[in-house]
Amino acid sequence: MCGIVGYVGEKQALEVVVSGLRRLEYRGYDSAGVAVIADGRLEVRKKAGKLVNLETLLGEDPLPQSTTGIGHTRWATHGGPTDRNAHPHVSEDQQVAVIHNGIIENFAELRDELQAAGVHLSSETDTEVVAHLLSKAIPAAGFDLVEAMRAVCRRLEGAFTLLAVDPRQPDLVVGARRNSPLVVGLGKGENFLASDVAAFVEYTRDALELGQDQIVALTSGEVVVIDFDGNPAEVRPFTIDWDASAAEKGGHDLFMLKEIAEQPKAVADSLRGRIGQDGHLQLDEMRLADADLRAVSKVVVIACGTAAHAGMVAKYAVEHWTRIPVEVELASEFRYRDPIVGPDTLVIAISQSGETMDTLMALRHAKAQGARTLAICNTVGSTIPREADAVVYTYAGPEIAVASTKAFLTQIIASYLVGLYLAQVRGTMFADEIRAIMDDLNDMPQKVDLVLDTVEPVRAIAREFANAPSVLFIGRHVGFPVALEGALKLKELAYMHAEGFAAGELKHGPIALIEDGVPVVVIMPSPRGRAVLHDKMISAIQEVRARGAVIIAIAEEGDEKIVAFSDHVIRVPIVPTLMQPLVSTVPLQVFACEMATAKGHDVDQPRNLAKSVTVE
Ligand code: AGP
Repeated sequence: MCGIVGYVGEKQALEVVVSGLRRLEYRGYDSAGVAVIADGRLEVRKKAGKLVNLETLLGEDPLPQSTTGIGHTRWATHGGPTDRNAHPHVSEDQQVAVIHNGIIENFAELRDELQAAGVHLSSETDTEVVAHLLSKAIPAAGFDLVEAMRAVCRRLEGAFTLLAVDPRQPDLVVGARRNSPLVVGLGKGENFLASDVAAFVEYTRDALELGQDQIVALTSGEVVVIDFDGNPAEVRPFTIDWDASAAEKGGHDLFMLKEIAEQPKAVADSLRGRIGQDGHLQLDEMRLADADLRAVSKVVVIACGTAAHAGMVAKYAVEHWTRIPVEVELASEFRYRDPIVGPDTLVIAISQSGETMDTLMALRHAKAQGARTLAICNTVGSTIPREADAVVYTYAGPEIAVASTKAFLTQIIASYLVGLYLAQVRGTMFADEIRAIMDDLNDMPQKVDLVLDTVEPVRAIAREFANAPSVLFIGRHVGFPVALEGALKLKELAYMHAEGFAAGELKHGPIALIEDGVPVVVIMPSPRGRAVLHDKMISAIQEVRARGAVIIAIAEEGDEKIVAFSDHVIRVPIVPTLMQPLVSTVPLQVFACEMATAKGHDVDQPRNLAKSVTVE
């Protein structure tokens, strides 16, 4: 939701800021804007639509040279995606420019107060009030933007990352954060602020995690961090373990295609170094004591969207391996329903970005109830792993396309590692059993590679059904969350009606959706796993086929029985039952990507969406 960049240094700020915005555009693309300080005054340019519109404007109406600047790419919350509502917002006296990510919940009250004092607001945003409040606070703060920011932040409710500049302090960018991401990039003679390290990784890999309710004063030579009370604050330095090329398309037309292709490596990286010298599974970032893990009587997974589907897959494996009951709950539902969690509950928050507000709030709720918490996350330095008791990183590298692909596979891997670790600590599996599953997991990069090598026919099938009014996905057991994931990908990318169902549920209602020509994608279980599941799936196919459905089956090599019941068969390699989602999801990603491309949609930046959803 909104990407934010700030820069102070020796380079041209505009270049650094715009290149940062390009890397953050996945966070929101309703409008973009920049502000620089030049010759003692603020210069602002902003434009509705994607960053390219702003770049055109900057070509027509160039900015003067400047070494201090901020920039914003927006996902609209308050007010439509117009030029007027684009950030930065500027105070009436033209002295303060502000950009914001998040939602200021008490903005209506603050707006009324400002209007009563005669301030004219020129946008519909919640952000604009901050510009005016800062401008009013500055004289009382001795014309110090940091002090003014501190005073204003104490009045704000909700979630916010704010960056502000003021030409009276031309070499300073001030940032503040509560519940929204902000990281510092440390350069030599220059420093950076951004929602995500991707914005500055081409200049530096040294970064600082900021904590909750902190303010940062950034100059070219210094980074000072304080809390909202003005006390020096603790920050955590970290090194970014990937380079700028990881956030480029690397020869692919789309980030999504690149990320699909990267899955074998992402899976391998997520598995690397997990077996210690003694042959036991080790999770270096696991900060929970074995005694606490032995005391766990229930696991609750909280997550949203694709991450929740990964949690659903994990439930099948973790219950099987540990015999601990696992609940999977949408994070947005969790905290508003009085869930039963306590010190013997392990709450696992799964999040690629580590910033999803619903997941963060659910995590905090779980912690407040005394639960042990663990984050499965891809983004080092993000809020969710910082606030959880323990973390297992997925090491998938940056995921830029809005539609999650490699995050899903690596979230499954990380959840499986947690399940096996629990089984190891609690003694519910023998060491050789755990090693055998680790061997299966270690085979997966090569199996996913095989899927990618043979996935081409999926594209032709996708194009054949590009005009279908609806596509249904059905699965059983671990194939059920895969069906949900296939449908989600299609909805978000191809903007078409798609639903995933548990195949056994069809006859309880959804079968009424079947009519002549409706494509039904069937995630076939292995006939070698539990044969009864395979037979039941064939029955479900018969039922929908009898009503006119066209069957596209995802089936393992050697499953010949499926051929007679399908119109198209997409083959995936033979893998153990619990590993099937890692191969059967990949053709569905390609299917959705190809269908969206055939329809002429922007695959990497689908309409109405943003990569990390930092509002509730
Ligand atoms: C899926 O393609 C989506 N991008 C979305 O469902 C995503 O998985 C969800 O918003 C959760 O994001 P997170 O993993 O960053 O928490």
